[in-house]
Amino acid sequence: MCARHSSTTLKGISGFLLKDLMKLVLSQEITKENYDDYIDEWKKSKEVLIPSTLNQSYGDFCAFTKKEQSLDLKDAISGRVPNETYFLVEANGYIIGAVNLRYEMTEVLLKKGGHISFGIRPSMRNKGYAFIMLKLAFNIMRPKGMTKILMTCVRGNKSCQGTMKKVGAKLENSYEIDDYVIDRYWVNL
Ligand SMILES: CC(C)(COP(=O)(O)OP(=O)(O)OC[C@H]1O[C@@H](n2cnc3c(N)ncnc32)[C@H](O)[C@@H]1OP(=O)(O)O)[C@@H](O)C(=O)NCCC(=O)NCCS
Repeated sequence: MCARHSSTTLKGISGFLLKDLMKLVLSQEITKENYDDYIDEWKKSKEVLIPSTLNQSYGDFCAFTKKEQSLDLKDAISGRVPNETYFLVEANGYIIGAVNLRYEMTEVLLKKGGHISFGIRPSMRNKGYAFIMLKLAFNIMRPKGMTKILMTCVRGNKSCQGTMKKVGAKLENSYEIDDYVIDRYWVNL
């Protein structure tokens, strides 16, 4: 069993019907079957898989888990800041979404990317899961001393903007890059 902190429960989200039935877990707590099922749904949707840490080993559970489990949070690996990918799972292990948490910032991430990138499987959207996943993610980041986190969003991504609003993120500024606008939001944890 890995010594790293591996899960967080819904403690702190009061009054929610699915309380205690869902949690965030690291890759060692998911099965290949559930991972493959999750990735297949994104592939079929033809959307870009978010967070991109899943995209790097698209479809290859072994490569993904090996990479994730070799991460040393103290060291940035190949130019990447210390980060972890958590999965939002139901009690039976079914994966609803995934979130990548970055524990340090670079100039690039401060501009685009921020501390968190997240996605919910297409069939489970508009049910409030992104909100739950982010709240659980905040519960992981807070004890690490993080008090304020940055999230960036492409203007026009209504579901992302809706999620920002729902978690209380405040728009700091926006800038244009190529043909689109990036909005930068901060959340106080
Ligand atoms: C962004 C994403 C994670 C939202 O997931 P979700 O579980 O559907 O979001 P929630 O159900 O928690 O909804 C959050 C808020 O956004 C709003 N929202 C969600 N989808 C929306 C849409 N298509 N249009 C307008 N508003 C939308 C919801 O109404 C909700 O606010 P409300 O409850 O006050 O109405 C999901 O659409 C997704 O995975 N998109 C692809 C990846 C991505 O864009 N990630 C974000 C960038 S890192």
